[in-house]
Amino acid sequence: MLVALTGLVLVLFLAGHLAGNLLVFVGEKAFNEYAEMLHSMLHGAGVWIARAVLLSCLVIHVAATISLTRANRAASPKYVHPQTIQASKSSRIMIWSGLTILAFVIFHILHFTIRVDSDLAQLGKDNPHRMVIEGFSHGLVVLFYVIAMSLLCSHLSHGVASMFQTLGLRSKKSAPLIEKLSKAYAIVIWAGFISIPLAIFVFKFGR
Ligand code: HEM
Repeated sequence: MLVALTGLVLVLFLAGHLAGNLLVFVGEKAFNEYAEMLHSMLHGAGVWIARAVLLSCLVIHVAATISLTRANRAASPKYVHPQTIQASKSSRIMIWSGLTILAFVIFHILHFTIRVDSDLAQLGKDNPHRMVIEGFSHGLVVLFYVIAMSLLCSHLSHGVASMFQTLGLRSKKSAPLIEKLSKAYAIVIWAGFISIPLAIFVFKFGR
């Protein structure tokens, strides 16, 4: 239940974060106004409340899944033929896709929120739109984003359907629709997020 409920908060955050970030294509003014709005909500307290909720959800989600994975491994017998018939590849690599996403989130926060790079730190204050453009100037950074987003897509395609199941919202009849919705959501998130670093990189270096 804890994994499903915290997962739901993170899934909703991703949709909102993607919608906001896509403003990067609308233009500098739209993106910078959006960044300014985020930081001035509730006289500046809004962003900290959102951060506290997100961080708590992330910590609970990761801790609970690690302990579930351990309990599952301890409980399952050592099979002579370990091949799976029903379980998808995404469902079998949940812990690994999840841990890669965690590594990505730590990198991403150092990159764009804490801004360990002093040039990006200055740009972040003056012009967040330029910070994002400059942030995707390195091929390796772009590659890491694309790999992490692809594992995020795999994680969501199983995780969202599994969330419905845990919350008791999945019946035999609704299962095929939930499977499709879950995959569609994962693909929209994947395509939306990778479009940003890829478009910036191709635009900068492809000319
Ligand atoms: C290309 C894709 C992405 C871009 C361009 C992007 C952009 C940004 C930016 C500019 C910030 C800084 C916000 C601020 O403090 O002003 C941020 C923060 C953050 N992003 Fe992303 N993001 C992307 C993908 C993701 C993904 C896939 C996740 C989750 C898996 C994610 C999770 C977060 C989190 C947790 C924060 C910290 C929020 C905060 O405390 O400020 N982002 N992102």
